[in-house]
Amino acid sequence: MKFFIDTADIDAIKQAYEMGLVDGVTTNPSLIKQSGRDHEETIREISSIVPGPISVETISTTTQGMLDEAEIYQTWGNNIVIKIVMSPEGMQTVKFLSAKGIKTNVTVTFTAAQALIAAKAGATYVSPFVGRLDDIGHHGMDVIEQIRTIYDHYAFQTKILVASVRSPIHLLDAAMVGADVATIPPKTLQQLFKHPLTDKGIEQFLADAKAFQKA
Ligand code: E4P
Repeated sequence: MKFFIDTADIDAIKQAYEMGLVDGVTTNPSLIKQSGRDHEETIREISSIVPGPISVETISTTTQGMLDEAEIYQTWGNNIVIKIVMSPEGMQTVKFLSAKGIKTNVTVTFTAAQALIAAKAGATYVSPFVGRLDDIGHHGMDVIEQIRTIYDHYAFQTKILVASVRSPIHLLDAAMVGADVATIPPKTLQQLFKHPLTDKGIEQFLADAKAFQKA
């Protein structure tokens, strides 16, 4: 299972990458806004740190607009994946780009039917937003399970990228149902290390080690 990091915060990316926990990065307009930095400069910097796929989201609403943006974003690094929202124009863009061998990530998806459409268009990744589904009283992970079943039935190559991850449980469930990738916010990544028995165990070992440590 691949771990992507869901942020445009360079320090957080560097820190997680150095621990071997970052196979790729996802960004979106909200994350770029949060970083408070220039879009191009930020993506170029991320691309120079992480060799894996870096998703950059288009903001046009027309197919031509998305294609023009894709052409520009491709020059920002050699590992750029073009992120495209779920819409008829978006799927037409994915079809064009995938025919040219350009990697795509279909985002803002909430149903297995949308994931099926993305796969038919030739998307490299589909990003179902589990956290936002949970927020409105649905079981986001049920959608991941459905997509896994459908993709396996027909041997679609599109990878399931679990997005809008909010907790270690989301990550665990995504792994249990066989998602290909989870994109994880830095805060959740930090939470993965934590267990009270781990803290207690380390504390006890360090205390006992004092008995035989040379001054
Ligand atoms: C990543 O590709 C998505 O844009 C992101 O995970 C959305 O997360 P959010 O629902 O926490 O904004």
